[in-house]
Amino acid sequence: MDTATFKLANGYTPLSLSSPNFILPEDKRPFLSQVPSLDSIPIINLNEDPESLIKKVSQACEEYGFFQVINHGVSEELCTRMMNAVSDFFDLPPQERGTLFTDDKTKPVRVSNYHIKGKGEEKVTMWSETFAHPWHLVDDFTHLLPQNPPQYRGVVAEYAKEIGALMSRLLSLISNGLGLDKDCLETRIGENPRLVTQANYYPPCPDPELTLGLPVHTDLNALTILMQSQGVIGLHVIKDGKWVAVDPVPNAFVINLGDQIQVLSNGRYKSVHHRAVTNKELPRISIAMFYGPNKDTMIGPIDDLVDEKEHPPLYRSYLFADFLAEFYKQEGTRRMVKEVFQLQH
Ligand code: OGA
Ligand code: NI
Repeated sequence: MDTATFKLANGYTPLSLSSPNFILPEDKRPFLSQVPSLDSIPIINLNEDPESLIKKVSQACEEYGFFQVINHGVSEELCTRMMNAVSDFFDLPPQERGTLFTDDKTKPVRVSNYHIKGKGEEKVTMWSETFAHPWHLVDDFTHLLPQNPPQYRGVVAEYAKEIGALMSRLLSLISNGLGLDKDCLETRIGENPRLVTQANYYPPCPDPELTLGLPVHTDLNALTILMQSQGVIGLHVIKDGKWVAVDPVPNAFVINLGDQIQVLSNGRYKSVHHRAVTNKELPRISIAMFYGPNKDTMIGPIDDLVDEKEHPPLYRSYLFADFLAEFYKQEGTRRMVKEVFQLQH
């Protein structure tokens, strides 16, 4: 698919940037030539022995908040089918995807566009379209999903099961890395986690310097497993105050910590700012599988990671519903959500 055939579901046609809706004010543009293409985030082989694995994961969580995993156990064949199912969804005619289009973020199944507020209250739309819906470890959620493309429900159900198992494994490694029992994080995040799939489609863009695919953000959940199109760069991550491009390593997943793990770990592990950029030549798809607490869960620094002297609590405990409310309140801005729950020392 090229730009000329892609129409956003809300009726926009991103054929050119002449529509001011997509053009960012200068201070918010990506300055792509300043981003080195060689640095990247750590790549971790999940087949390594447990001890060195825990060490590597822990180091990546402290220093980057992001890493890639290879030999993760999810078959290449299933990943390809999932990617194709999502690609077929974005290939549906805009009128059909458009029936799911809404600005209401509380709708569980929705197609939407991200935006940021430019000068004043004027909205600048991101050069992408997003399809979000719940996922679950058991397949009784699939009736919520579209019936078209025809394979979508079945493939997502299969993928969700595999991602659920990998999520559990990663949470154990991260718990162990913090010196906690392997079940600790999963238990603290709670029994009915909030599980959201977010598929992002970035059409080729005539001038990638003027716009972004996704605004600079941190993930509000606990843990994200992201699959991205092979061979197309688009994800940038902040490292030591500078942007770093994530190399799309074949058959790898990108793993990143969300805000809730930063809080639970009392700031030891980081939820890091990232963004998606566009390119002129190739469309790009990413599929993020989010895992986080549900609204009724209390989140705060884990007791074992806090002491009076050296590690005083950096955050107060809160109901996740209050975190979500603050998140929605800051829509369109460079959010500072966890900062609202920070304690002064
Ligand atoms: C996200 C995200 C990055 C990407 O969906 O939260 O950060 O590479 N996606 O598309
Ligand atoms: Ni993200």
